[in-house]
Amino acid sequence: MDRIFSGMQPTRQLHLGNYLGALRNWVALQDRFESIFCIVDLHALTLPQDPAVLLSNTREVAAAYIAAGIDPERCVIFNQSAVAQHAELSWILSCHAPLGWLNRMTQFKDKAGKHRENAVLGLYAYPVLMAADILIYKATHVPVGEDQKQHLELARDIAGAFNRHYAVDYFPQPEPQILGEATRVMSLRDGTKKMSKSDESDYSRINLTDDADAIAQKIRKAKTDPEPLPDTLEALEKRPEADNLVTIYAALEGSGRQQALDRFAGQTFSTFKSALVDLSVARLGPITAEMRRLMSDPAEIDRILRRGADKAGDMAARHLGELKDIIGLLRLR
Ligand code: TYM
Repeated sequence: MDRIFSGMQPTRQLHLGNYLGALRNWVALQDRFESIFCIVDLHALTLPQDPAVLLSNTREVAAAYIAAGIDPERCVIFNQSAVAQHAELSWILSCHAPLGWLNRMTQFKDKAGKHRENAVLGLYAYPVLMAADILIYKATHVPVGEDQKQHLELARDIAGAFNRHYAVDYFPQPEPQILGEATRVMSLRDGTKKMSKSDESDYSRINLTDDADAIAQKIRKAKTDPEPLPDTLEALEKRPEADNLVTIYAALEGSGRQQALDRFAGQTFSTFKSALVDLSVARLGPITAEMRRLMSDPAEIDRILRRGADKAGDMAARHLGELKDIIGLLRLR
């Protein structure tokens, strides 16, 4: 059976980009795939984290998965550090990942910034750990937002390099699944920048923990231009902020951008924004409320993660055993 794996970092709160670009698609896919959803706490360590905040964010991301509709009875939900084989396979794969491939990764360049010499090794090796996350389960499909495409290509390359090196057909080539209308949600303050957890301005994003007032304020303050909404996609594409808001509207509604334009063409942003506030609150409000309810019982979240880690750990241990046999690492029994 086809198997999906995907994950999110427990760094700050999840936002609308995480929801529309990834989480919502996972919910739709869980019916058709064996599904493994991870909270990638080891990846979070590539940037400095406060231990107490990291712990609480890890549970909060688990709560967000479940509140958004991931069924913990059918899917495996766990935190990455609970299954040691991710880190073990990451080492093995790092021995098959040429530096030239890693040097091409744009996320490292963005995150390391100007002081590349001070960037930590983990940040550089980040995509190899990500490849290990996927490949340890021999996942066939990986639903992500557009920004993860390059990392997925690297995972495919590493899987191929491993298979060739040992002349085996062990790892499948994981297929990226970049789905829906909003594969790249942009900042509410700047339509040319991705909506991101790390943006200094909280007004740049809608967090899954925002209440109705915060959502309304952020959308009302969102940057726009003075023109009314256009009637064609071609005209929309030249206006990044307008395009972003229309895309968000269409994605939340489950329609398309053209359908949204058919409805709002010629109208002012103030009319359109009111409709967007109503739709956002209607769609996100129940998720936020359910997250809050789940967060009030952290022991229950931990039980779900424990169960998930046990299931994931069994599969990961089996696969790592097979890999050790392929590689010639002595398995003592
Ligand atoms: P992370 O935590 O940055 O983001 C989680 C998911 O949300 C998507 N996303 C977006 N989609 C649309 N618009 C946006 N503005 C936006 N921002 C984020 C991301 O594409 C992602 O799907 N490296 C990954 C985590 C990871 C992973 C994995 C993913 C680790 N191992 C294995 C898949 C498979 C990351 O940092 O995602």
